Amino acid sequence: TYLGIDLGTSGLRALLIGADGAPIGSAEAHYTVATPHPGWSEQDPGHWILALDQAIETLRATHPEFADLRGIGVAGHMHGATLLDSEGAVIRPCILWNDTRSHAEAAHLDAVPRVRELSGNIVFPGFTAPKLAWVVTHEPENFARMAQVLLPAAFLNRYLTGEGVTDMSDAAGTSWLDVGAREWSAELLKVGGMSAAQMPRLVEGCAPAGVLRADLARRWGLGSDVVVAGGAGDNAAAACGIGALEEGQGFVSLGTSGVILAARDGYRPAPETAIHTFCHAVPARWYQMAVMLSATDCLNWLSRVTGAKPAELTSPLGETLAAPGALRFLPYLSGERTPHNDAAMRGGFAGIATSTDRDDMTRAVLEGVAFGLRDGFEGLRATGCAFDQVTAIGGGTGSRYWLKLIATVLNTPLALPKGGEFGAAMGAARLGQIASGGGSVEDVIRPPEIAEVIEPVADLVAAYDDSYHAFRAAYAPMRQAQL
Ligand code: XUL
Repeated sequence: TYLGIDLGTSGLRALLIGADGAPIGSAEAHYTVATPHPGWSEQDPGHWILALDQAIETLRATHPEFADLRGIGVAGHMHGATLLDSEGAVIRPCILWNDTRSHAEAAHLDAVPRVRELSGNIVFPGFTAPKLAWVVTHEPENFARMAQVLLPAAFLNRYLTGEGVTDMSDAAGTSWLDVGAREWSAELLKVGGMSAAQMPRLVEGCAPAGVLRADLARRWGLGSDVVVAGGAGDNAAAACGIGALEEGQGFVSLGTSGVILAARDGYRPAPETAIHTFCHAVPARWYQMAVMLSATDCLNWLSRVTGAKPAELTSPLGETLAAPGALRFLPYLSGERTPHNDAAMRGGFAGIATSTDRDDMTRAVLEGVAFGLRDGFEGLRATGCAFDQVTAIGGGTGSRYWLKLIATVLNTPLALPKGGEFGAAMGAARLGQIASGGGSVEDVIRPPEIAEVIEPVADLVAAYDDSYHAFRAAYAPMRQAQL
C-alpha cells in the first residue's frame, strides 16, 4: 500500500491506497490559522506533526493494510517559510502562503533585474523569498539563528526521513529556484540575501527523498525500507491526483484558495502577467495556474458573520441557476494574486438595498468568486492554455449551484470525477507509489473516471458575461474607496 499526506491550510488528510491505485481509507485532523495582525497568517509546525501522528494512529487502527506500506508522498500548502535553527528546532511560526505582510519586500525583489526572468514569475508577497526579506528587517535575531528554511511539505519530509528535502514543484514557489533549469539559482539566492547552505536538497516529486526514520517505522509497525518521495506543492499534487500531465488537462479547485491549473508540455513562463508558471511534480514538465487567494474562504467569512454553516447558506438557493443578481461582491478578503497582484486590496459589497437578504448576499459571494476565477481563466487563455473542459475539485464542489454558476461564467463544462479521491492526497500517494518502485509515471498518474459533466446554462451565458464585465469595472473605484 501507499500513503498520501495532504498538509492543507485547515487540516491534514492521510489517504491509504492499494497497489491498484484504489483508495483504502483516510483520516483527517484539523488545526487553525493564526492571524496575530491584519494580513498575517501563521501556523505552528508542531501542530502539523500532531495532526500527522493522530491521522496515522486512526488509519492504523482502522486499516490493517497500513502494515504493508511501501511508499509515502507528502503534499503541502505552498510557499510557507519554516525557519529552523542548527539543531533543527522551529524558530518562529510558519508564515503561510496567504500572508501578505511582506508586500513591500516582494515589490522590491520583483523590481530587481532578471528576477522574473530566472524565477519565471512575479515575486508575489505570498512567495517565500519576500517572507525571508521581511524576517531580515523585522526579526533580525531570528534570521541570525536560522540554519535552514523549509517549505511545509519539506518540513514533514524532514520529520519522516530526518532530512528536509524539497521537490521541484514546491521549490518553484519560493522565488529562489531557476524554474526552467529546475535548480536553485545562485543569482536569485544572492538577491534574496540567502545562501545555498540554507536551502534543502532538491529532488523531483516522484523520486525518492529518503526512507522512513527507523524510530517512526517502529512506532507505526512498519518495515525498515518505506520510501518517502520528494512530494509536491498541493496544486501539483492535485494535478497528479486527477492525472493532469498533458497540455489541455487541468482543474479548477475550490478550496480556501481558488486555483485554475493547466498542465503545459513545455516551459513557457509569462512573468509579465500574474499567471504562475511552476515545475510539475514529475521530471521535464511544468504547469501554469491562476491563484485567487480567497475562494471558499469568502463563503466561510459569510458563514462566520451570519452564524449559518456554509451548506445552510447555499442550500436555500436550490440547484437551478438564477440570472445574475443586482448585488455585487468583490472577493478580495486577503488581497489578490491573479490577476491584480494587490496585497492591500480588500473585498466589499456594492448595491445593498433595504430588501437585500442573506440569500442575496450568498449568491453575490458565489458570483464574486466565480468572476474572480474567470479573471484567472482569461489570463491562462491569454498565455495559450486551451481547455475544452476542466475538472472541478475541492470542498466548494459540494454546492451544485456554485458548479453551475462557475460553468456558466467560464462558459466551459466542468467534469466531476467519480468517487471521492482525486485531490492532493491522492496525487501525493501516487508520488509515493512511483518513488518506491510501484509503477511508472504514465502507469500511475491517470485521469479519473468522470461521473458527470456540468454544462454551462446556455441561456444565461450572455447575462453572466455582462455581469463579469461590470465586476471587472468595479475593481478600480472599490480600490479607490479604500484609500
Ligand atoms: C498556490 C497557493 C495556494 C496554496 C494553498 O500558489 O498559494 O494554492 O498552495 O494550499
